[in-house]
Amino acid sequence: MLTTLRNSLVWFRRQSEDGLDGTHAEPSSVRSTVKGVPMTPTGPVTDWATDFDVMDPHYLSDPFSIWDVLRPTCPIPHTNRRKSSWMPLRYDDVTAIAHDVEHFSSLKVAVIPGDEDQDPNANFDGPNLEYGLPPISSDPPLHTWTRRLLLPWFSHKRVETYVPLTRDLCRTLLDGFADKGCADAAADYAQQIPVRVIAHILGVPAELADTFTGWVRDVLEFADDAERRQHGAEGLLNFFLKQLEERRQRPGDDLLSELLRTEVDGHRIDDGIVLGMAALVLIAGVDTTWSAIGSSLWHLATHPDDRRRLVREPELMPGAVEELLRAYSPVTMARVVTEDIDYAGCPMKKGDKVLMNFPAANRDPAAFDHPELVQLDRAQNRHVAFGSGIHRCAGSNLARMELQVALEEWLGRIPEFSVAEDREITWAGGQVRGPRSLSVVFA
Ligand code: HEM
Repeated sequence: MLTTLRNSLVWFRRQSEDGLDGTHAEPSSVRSTVKGVPMTPTGPVTDWATDFDVMDPHYLSDPFSIWDVLRPTCPIPHTNRRKSSWMPLRYDDVTAIAHDVEHFSSLKVAVIPGDEDQDPNANFDGPNLEYGLPPISSDPPLHTWTRRLLLPWFSHKRVETYVPLTRDLCRTLLDGFADKGCADAAADYAQQIPVRVIAHILGVPAELADTFTGWVRDVLEFADDAERRQHGAEGLLNFFLKQLEERRQRPGDDLLSELLRTEVDGHRIDDGIVLGMAALVLIAGVDTTWSAIGSSLWHLATHPDDRRRLVREPELMPGAVEELLRAYSPVTMARVVTEDIDYAGCPMKKGDKVLMNFPAANRDPAAFDHPELVQLDRAQNRHVAFGSGIHRCAGSNLARMELQVALEEWLGRIPEFSVAEDREITWAGGQVRGPRSLSVVFA
């Protein structure tokens, strides 16, 4: 069992080295090595079709115009930076690949690859990747039953019970700055919400939420700083290891206790799997939703007509949430090619990465009328912000609820606000895109 836990930790570190979010504290041109493996130098991009870089500063701030130029002529650009990777931009390609789990495995889901990705024969079922963070980093059969265990925790019915807690939380946060006339909508508000809701679901005291946020940020946003990254990964996993022991002694009615109680085929679930699932819930549920709330507030701060319409017509809110998720989808996930395959004329090799660009698919004019426009009452909106196929987001009900409540509470208290002109907006990108600082002033 200890070996298993250690393996999970190693896997987690490696994924961290991959950079699950990828916000880089240092300029991309000074990237050096990961565990001694030289990384491809990353100078400025001169050809987005053959040498794209999702960490390019221009791509971080405005990926949309790059997709629009590429999509008609080169809908699946390629790069050899870091690792041979393909990036489908069309809705049909992204959804087709998401459904083809035989050729496109989820065992390496990090968008910015790490050292194990350098070896095309490094394996999908090697001991270090035995469990990973199921179900997101697994293929069937492990994927199937671990996903099934998580789903009830995020059902419509269950999510409804988290509404009062979320609303109270938003109100308390707003109380902290509403009278000041300004705030950082990303750091003071968006970032604070999902981590506390997840802490509740995991049965962890809310006072630890800031510590969690610190660990998740260390792992996801400062992935270039090896020491900080390791600090975050170890903090998270050591914390959950202790929690497992405590829940074994004093079980509660939270997700961790339930996973420890559960039997699959007559056996208790291996601790390494429980650990991976708990870490996933925290990681998947925090950065993603905070990014979506932040991007939505950025849109409302910069589009007064939409903001005022939403205040005037609150019944538009559920559709507006879908539209904001479509237009500013935060999450890109990777797949790894399991055997040499020609996909739509692209000679993909075993071990290549495919970046599942759900955000670009949601801006494809072949799938959405005027995708560049945010239409709060868009009638047809089959967006894939939550993915597509067997890995479709298990927490989408929770994410929608948090986004809706966060926007309702903000607009109820601060209906008039705009971006502070003298302050820079910074965007995280790579795996999860969203604003990390967003200074706004209230009218
Ligand atoms: C706006 C917020 C969110 C967005 C945009 C989002 C997006 C996604 C996407 C695109 C995937 C598919 C990954 C893939 O295809 O490889 C995914 C999977 C997943 N998400 Fe979310 N997510 C959000 C919030 C959440 C929340 C709040 C939770 C709850 C803890 C959560 C839990 C999960 C889990 C467990 C999976 C893995 C499902 C599987 O592999 O079967 N997500 N999410």
